[in-house]
Amino acid sequence: MSEQGTTARAQVALVTGASSGIGRATARALAARGWSLVLCARSADGLAAVEAECVAAGAPALAVPTDVGDRGRVEDAFAAATERFGRVDAVVNSAAVVGYGRFEDVPAEVYDRVVTTNLLGTANVARAALAHFKEHGGGRLVLIGSLLGKIAVPFMSPYVTSKWGVQALARTLQVEARETPGIQVSLVSPGSINTPAYLQAANYAGWEGRPPPPIDPPEKVAAAVLRCLDRPRRDEGVGVFNPVVVLGFRMLPALYDLLVTPLAKVGALSRRALEPFAGTVFEPRPAAEEVHGVWDRWGRRRSEAPPSGTGAQSGATGDPGPATRAGGGA
Ligand SMILES: NC(=O)c1ccc[n+]([C@@H]2O[C@H](COP(=O)([O-])OP(=O)(O)OC[C@H]3O[C@@H](n4cnc5c(N)ncnc54)[C@H](OP(=O)(O)O)[C@@H]3O)[C@@H](O)[C@H]2O)c1
Repeated sequence: MSEQGTTARAQVALVTGASSGIGRATARALAARGWSLVLCARSADGLAAVEAECVAAGAPALAVPTDVGDRGRVEDAFAAATERFGRVDAVVNSAAVVGYGRFEDVPAEVYDRVVTTNLLGTANVARAALAHFKEHGGGRLVLIGSLLGKIAVPFMSPYVTSKWGVQALARTLQVEARETPGIQVSLVSPGSINTPAYLQAANYAGWEGRPPPPIDPPEKVAAAVLRCLDRPRRDEGVGVFNPVVVLGFRMLPALYDLLVTPLAKVGALSRRALEPFAGTVFEPRPAAEEVHGVWDRWGRRRSEAPPSGTGAQSGATGDPGPATRAGGGA
């Protein structure tokens, strides 16, 4: 009860990418803290599962199927959230898709859609969030960037391009937010996280992607998001070696360029052969959505997940096991 004797209003968070991986772990963590949730992703089926998890945890939840690349649908999601809960206190943008392959092997439409979802989608969510916060007296925006928003790796050009853009947008919004008291913008930059993203990725590299070790659980990123909601942070990294990798990229570019491609071939691509595959870039695959992926901390498969592409080749050799970092987690 508040001092006035009325029941305190539960805080409301809108989470995009809520049906899988980091977004879903964040929705669960917020539900456990007593927040009300507005859950966004493209697939209604995927959202139904996380909505049920939140409700089971005692958190009111509203699933709003939304493509973040569609500005009108993002605005509709905020309108639905306002109608149900009155206002949104915090927005966490976790929606993204991944594309593997050398730049010239990735179809232009795939490249464009990855950038549209990850970068323009972030802009659409940020624009709607900031307008909502201005109207309602403030709020907290957390953008999920990536270690790959700070370094370059081969075979992931659409994703790397998009995440450098997210990094730039986040820092710009943080600077501009200094003139709008009550509005706070944080960036969370994970390294390798064990989520389904690698198996959901579009792939024109010939080999299935995987997170280079060491690999952290999505709950660790969710905890970083919650820290940002408690106290805004300019750039909250998740991944013990991220600062070293960024330092090497910036301070020793010739050595970095020499090493990164061989390391990526071993650490970021498995030995499971794949036919070209568009993954979730154009359409969701809700049956493959989970909080966790299939890897342990050192990149070994803990389970025989279904192959990521319909074109996975049956004669693929086994996984080569642990390899070193700097190959590029998503
Ligand atoms: N996993 C890592 O190692 C890692 C590392 C660094 C950064 N990150 C970042 O962390 C965030 C979450 O990634 P994750 O690993 O949790 O991925 P994930 O498990 O594949 O989840 C991606 C989520 O985004 C949603 N999504 C995809 N396209 C969308 C669209 N156009 N509109 C709305 N929702 C969309 C997906 O649902 P639908 O398909 O149903 O839309 C799903 O809920 C991303 O920003 C990613 O770049 C991940």
